[in-house]
Amino acid sequence: MSEDKPRSHGRLAARPSLRPRELVTDTPELQGAWRARVITLLPEAFPGVLGLSLTGKALAEGLWHLETIDLRPFGEGRHRNVDDTPAGGGAGMVLRADVVARALDAAAPGTPADRARWPLIYLSPRGRPFDQATARQLAAAEGVTLLCGRFEGVDQRLLDHYAIEEVSLGDFVLTGGELAAQALLDATVRLLPGVLGNATSTDEESFSAGLLEYPQYTRPQVWEGREIPPVLMSGHHGEIAKWRKAEAERITRERRPDLWAAHEATRPAKAPKKRKPKASTDEGIEPAKA
Ligand SMILES: C[S@@+](CC[C@H](N)C(=O)[O-])C[C@H]1O[C@@H](n2cnc3c(N)ncnc32)[C@H](O)[C@@H]1O
Repeated sequence: MSEDKPRSHGRLAARPSLRPRELVTDTPELQGAWRARVITLLPEAFPGVLGLSLTGKALAEGLWHLETIDLRPFGEGRHRNVDDTPAGGGAGMVLRADVVARALDAAAPGTPADRARWPLIYLSPRGRPFDQATARQLAAAEGVTLLCGRFEGVDQRLLDHYAIEEVSLGDFVLTGGELAAQALLDATVRLLPGVLGNATSTDEESFSAGLLEYPQYTRPQVWEGREIPPVLMSGHHGEIAKWRKAEAERITRERRPDLWAAHEATRPAKAPKKRKPKASTDEGIEPAKA
C-alpha cells in the first residue's frame, strides 16, 4: 500500500504515516518550545480540548508543540493489526510489544535520551498517581512522549525493555489513554511560561502550597439570600489573606486528611511557649518554705 494514499475510515479519511504528525503546521515553531509527542490509535482525538481556550491559543502561538504518532501504520500484515489475545487466556486484547516498539522508535528522533529532560510515560491505571508536582516536573523538562493504551493495555515486555514510567490519572479505568494524556498535557502546559495570562495565578491555586484552595466568590454580593463573606468585601488585604489561609487549611483538613498530614509534616516545628513561673500552688508546686 502506498504511504500517501488516503484510506477511508467511514466518513473520515486517514493518511497512514510512519512519521510524527504535527497538529499545528501553520504556526511558528518557536526555538526551544516545549513539545509533546503522543502515540495513539486515535490521532484524530488530538488536540481535542487542548486546541481550545488558553492551551489552544498557546499551541497556535507556538508556545508549545503537539505531534501525534498514529500506532496503526506500525501494525502487522495487510490489516495493520496492533493487538493480539492475552497470553494465558482471558478477555480482551493486548497491544503487541513489537508494534508499539516500532512507534516508539519512530517517536524518538530529536528527543534527548536523558529521561529527566524528556520523560517517556505510559498512561495506565496501575501507574504512579499524577499530581501537581509531576506536572511541574514535566513543565520543567523539554518535552514528553506519551503512550496511550487501548484494550487491556500493552505487553509488559515493552514497558520493561524501554523502562517506561507508568502514570495514572486516578483510581478508575478509562477506555483508553487519550483522555488521560490530554488531562496530563493540560495540567502541564498551563504551567509553561506565557501560557496563562496572569503569571501569578498558579501560585495560590490548589496544591501549590500543599493545600486545597480557599472558596472563591464573585458578584452579585447577595445571591439566593447567601452573602459573600464580609471580610472579602472589606478591602483589608491583611484580613483577606488571613481568612483565605484559614479557609484553605480548614478545607484541606476536612476533605483531604492525607494532604493535611503531609502539609503538617513539612511545617517548621513551633518553638514551645515560654511559661511564666508561677508563685502559687495551683499547679502542684510547693510554695517555698519560709
Ligand atoms: C481499559 S484500559 C486497560 C485497563 C487494564 N486492563 C487494567 O486493568 O489496568 C485501556 C487503557 O486506558 C488507559 N487508562 C485507563 N485508565 C486509566 C487511568 N486511570 N489513568 C491513565 N490511563 C488510563 C491506559 O492507557 C490503558 O492501557
